[in-house]
Amino acid sequence: MSVAVVILAAGRGSRMKSDVPKVLHNLAHAPLLVHAMQSAQSVDAARMVVVTGHGGEAVSKAAQAYDPNTIIVTQEEQLGTAHAVQQAGAALSDFDGNVIVLYGDTPFIQENTLRDMLTARENGASVVVLGFEAAEPRRYGRLVKGADGGLDAIVEAKDATPDQLAINLCNSGVICADCGTLFKLIETIEANNGSGEYYLTDVVELARSMDHTCAAIIRSEAETMGVNSRADLATADAAFQTRMRTEALKNGVTMHAPGTVFFAYDTNLGRDAVIEANVVFGPAVTVESGALIRAFSHLEGCHVSQDAIVGPYARLRPGAKIGNCARVGNFVEIKATTVGEGAKVNHLSYIGDAEVGDAANIGAGTITCNYDGVFKHQTIIGKRAFIGSNTALVAPVRVGNDAMTGSGSVITEDVPEEGLAIARARQANKPGLALRFLNRLKATEKLNLKDN
Ligand code: UD1
Ligand code: MG
Repeated sequence: MSVAVVILAAGRGSRMKSDVPKVLHNLAHAPLLVHAMQSAQSVDAARMVVVTGHGGEAVSKAAQAYDPNTIIVTQEEQLGTAHAVQQAGAALSDFDGNVIVLYGDTPFIQENTLRDMLTARENGASVVVLGFEAAEPRRYGRLVKGADGGLDAIVEAKDATPDQLAINLCNSGVICADCGTLFKLIETIEANNGSGEYYLTDVVELARSMDHTCAAIIRSEAETMGVNSRADLATADAAFQTRMRTEALKNGVTMHAPGTVFFAYDTNLGRDAVIEANVVFGPAVTVESGALIRAFSHLEGCHVSQDAIVGPYARLRPGAKIGNCARVGNFVEIKATTVGEGAKVNHLSYIGDAEVGDAANIGAGTITCNYDGVFKHQTIIGKRAFIGSNTALVAPVRVGNDAMTGSGSVITEDVPEEGLAIARARQANKPGLALRFLNRLKATEKLNLKDN
């Protein structure tokens, strides 16, 4: 049976104290909403509907940037979770299958959890709810179980009796039901409760009143956690980092101090990669097997090929492609540049908008002057070229294969293959001048002392 997912993302999230809609706050460099969308994709959702409200334009832009097929619906007024789901009704009126409701602020729902919910549906439950054993149940809806172990009702804390408040089993908000049934039940939901809201959770009691069975799948509170505040976001980030580190270690990555390595949601590390301490990954980084990322390096939007060595203290920016066995050393910044196989950029350089040929050697302090204040220009460096220390390569410029530049050169014209370019003032030696100069200074100093 096919699955549609409805993601609720209309709420303001006032406890974030932010001008940015809550679901657009980043967790490991991806908006919370994208994490929820990833959960939806993990069960191959045939349709994904995002319900927007507060900050709707920005939210829909982010949703469609991640998946252009996302259907966006608007909930003008936030009248409750049932009302929110109802807004997806038109988009799913012809849909035949299961609907899963997720929250845009709940980033950790795993594929196997959703699959277990779908299996419970196949086994006959009309409505399946994802619950968790809460350490402190507080404001969560309580799962009220029947004598047969099935689920009888979800009672919101505001409407609960003292007995019900004593229940620790709580509602995560994730719910799964047959599409037709769900929207039929939602139509009958009324807002006669403590909050005056349309509660999605009422579908359980309504289904029970029609003799349908309902079931709960239980997972850890860590998986079902929602983000409501900056503190929650920090907690979620720490949890996510722990998960990424554990996964990387399990997949054969060596980390000397895993607690100091920070991942993005999409960091991709090959087997036998070694990551030293204090390395930070921004989004879209791939490090192939056997590569070594040394301490204090910062990488984003880049690709490091097999057996390359990067850092310590290197910065790889978007579009950096480091070839097999290449080396990028300390205090080197590389942007939008392909560094060829075995090439070396070892010290104190900025290489941007460039191609560095295989086995080329870039001397210390080399700078590509790629920006004229308006446009960016390319620097092409040939295979086995040798760029002398402190060369300024004023782009657009080309250095041929096997060519050299003298150190301290400002290269403004192309250098032919196998040629040597020197572009600096010629040195003039003046015999004895240093000594005469020094003596004159000392004499002046004596005169000054007498005058005083
Ligand atoms: C809801 C559940 C509660 C559960 C808890 C888990 C209901 C009635 N209660 O309560 O049982 O324990 O989540 O966190 O469903 N939203 C909209 N439009 C609305 C209202 C909400 O899009 O009109 C979105 C919010 O942005 C949020 C999610 O739905 O992402 C949940 O809404 P929230 O108001 O936080 O529900 P709770 O009161 O926490
Ligand atoms: Mg909530």
